[in-house]
Amino acid sequence: MPTMLDRVAYAAGQTARVGWFLAHYAAGRRQLKPMPRPDFPVGPFPDRQTLLRDMRQLFTREWDDIAAGLFPPPPVLDQDPIAWLRRSALYFRDLPKVDERRHARTNDEPNHDPAHAHLPRYYRQNFHYQSGGWLTEESAAVYDVQVETLFTGAADVMRRRALKPIALFLGNQDQRQARLLDIGTGTGRLPGFIRHAFPGLHVTGLDLSRPYLDHARRTMGTSRRLKWIEGAAEALPFADASIDLITASFLFHELPPKVRRAAVAEMARVLKPGGRAIVIDSALESDRPEWKGLFDLFPYYFHEPYFTDWVTSDPDALFSAHGLTARTTEIAFLSRVMEFERRPL
Ligand SMILES: C[S@@+](CC[C@H](N)C(=O)[O-])C[C@H]1O[C@@H](n2cnc3c(N)ncnc32)[C@H](O)[C@@H]1O
Repeated sequence: MPTMLDRVAYAAGQTARVGWFLAHYAAGRRQLKPMPRPDFPVGPFPDRQTLLRDMRQLFTREWDDIAAGLFPPPPVLDQDPIAWLRRSALYFRDLPKVDERRHARTNDEPNHDPAHAHLPRYYRQNFHYQSGGWLTEESAAVYDVQVETLFTGAADVMRRRALKPIALFLGNQDQRQARLLDIGTGTGRLPGFIRHAFPGLHVTGLDLSRPYLDHARRTMGTSRRLKWIEGAAEALPFADASIDLITASFLFHELPPKVRRAAVAEMARVLKPGGRAIVIDSALESDRPEWKGLFDLFPYYFHEPYFTDWVTSDPDALFSAHGLTARTTEIAFLSRVMEFERRPL
């Protein structure tokens, strides 16, 4: 059970993190050239107080789960602080290039590099207008800072909402017998938290990006219980009914609808009956109609070609059509955490 000291360390650590990335957000905004007003209707926005209150409630919810003994507090510093500082410096150095792309609407640079010709066309884009798309070491190095700055320090806590359904699923069973696959693992943030909370689990992170996987290997390590493999969510290199748990954080809004459907079919195929898929992604417009302006503007400021389709879709129907029944849903700040159960075959 966590102690009072753990509580203080958690509050101080998370407050410092949010402050750090709020400062990134403010400093970054000052560097950006103003964008022309969008020529489409834009919905309402939450005010800053509402956003901060909602974010605070999310940390409170996480602490309640920690206090209930579902999983341990997150590490206060999960990686070398000097490495984080270096990545922040890289992020600010890269920001003008991202802004240039945003203004010029340039979004297909990775498509012109013949080295990437083996990858699917939809994948070879500058998502978020980021330099290198998903396909360079530099992009992998700044990715975590980009995401945390966008979410003002709340990206990790949203990812960690996957820990609750995992803890409840594992219950008293022997973790060492269970296999978890994280698809679209990126730099491996979610597998890192899963390994910290459930050290016995066998965890594999899968991604199409070799540089992101290399980054994950360097920062998270590799072991008998932690593996990183190159592969596509829509063609999982695993046998039928061989995995107990699948997670995916912030992957689904990056996939074209057809690929999204194929990925769900693959998740259903490789999950054991009774196994769980836990998907964290952007909240839907219908979850936060009073925040619609954020959903309208996000794909305008960040190259997000499939985002609008995702936030207006019906994930429960999509997963159910492939044999995955919705069990729980949590709206966690700007995200939606969905747990699905593989129906018996
Ligand atoms: C927005 S990032 C999310 C990364 C990470 N899960 C996180 O929580 O930050 C999307 C990731 O999905 C990967 N990706 C995109 N399409 C994919 C596909 N079809 N199969 C496997 N990975 C894919 C990208 O390379 C990228 O690392």
